[in-house]
Amino acid sequence: MSAAPKRFDLSGKTALVTGASQGIGRGIAIALAEHGADIAIVDRAAEQETEKVAAHIRTLGRKAWVYRQDIAQSEQLAAIADRVWTDAGKIDILVNNAGMAYLERFNLITIEHWRRIFAVNVEGVFFLTQRIAERMIAAGIKGRIINVSSKNGFVAEAGLAHYNATKGAIELLTRTLAIELGQHGITANTIAPGCIQTEIGHDFAFDSKGFEPYCQEHIPLGRLGTVEDCAGIVVFLASPAAAYINGQHIINDGGVLAEQMPRMQFMPPYKNTVAKKA
Ligand SMILES: NC(=O)c1ccc[n+]([C@@H]2O[C@H](COP(=O)([O-])OP(=O)(O)OC[C@H]3O[C@@H](n4cnc5c(N)ncnc54)[C@H](O)[C@@H]3O)[C@@H](O)[C@H]2O)c1
Repeated sequence: MSAAPKRFDLSGKTALVTGASQGIGRGIAIALAEHGADIAIVDRAAEQETEKVAAHIRTLGRKAWVYRQDIAQSEQLAAIADRVWTDAGKIDILVNNAGMAYLERFNLITIEHWRRIFAVNVEGVFFLTQRIAERMIAAGIKGRIINVSSKNGFVAEAGLAHYNATKGAIELLTRTLAIELGQHGITANTIAPGCIQTEIGHDFAFDSKGFEPYCQEHIPLGRLGTVEDCAGIVVFLASPAAAYINGQHIINDGGVLAEQMPRMQFMPPYKNTVAKKA
């Protein structure tokens, strides 16, 4: 029997993942490494924190590099991109994951918060991608750009006017990149998670009394998402299996956006009409 085609194999590839010291980014970095990629991490967290993720990646037999950088410092991003490229030799996969949120009423949003969230969630993504993509083109690399957006890039949620706007921006930014980079064989796509259990949940007030059961009740799959629910999609988008996917988004929200107005609680209880297996 011949060996199965390596549709999800990332051996020989190098990925740069932002915001991988914890949460979804950590899960993505480890999953990419498990599929064979070497990993560079750019994060503003203390180096010893991010180093723990790098150490884990090295136990998988992959190379790992760590860079401490605030993504919001967009004028520094070309230099950090150049450093990573020089150390790693190339970047095949760029995962723009680092992101943040504030939960506050529209009238209480300050100019500082508005600028900060756009600087991290949009400006940082754009200027890092600009440099990495130019280097990919110059090196003839048919790379992958994968941006972590959100279901909030498609539908709005109260208290998150600025966050929603940044994720909407990421969606159209990604599609624009898909067109401009597509002619160089580079794809650009997003993953758009729903409610995923991570530290950012504090920013979204996931820890408010009753919010978690409320979420679960309104998520058709009946649970919050996990980091693993996100990481596999990024592996797929980075892999040979996704070579012809460009300018798309994959929403992983447990089915939230499939529904226009929750009405399950008004339905009669579910009754099985087929006999149970003996
Ligand atoms: N958790 C969710 O429910 C959810 C849902 C949809 C989308 N997202 C998106 O997923 C991404 C990751 O979120 P998470 O839930 O893992 O959050 P998290 O807070 O657990 O992790 C965020 C990571 O990004 C890093 N980071 C934050 N600001 C940075 C900056 N200015 N410069 C460099 N690094 C920075 C942090 O140090 C951390 O490692 C974000 O873009 C977020 O908007 C999260």
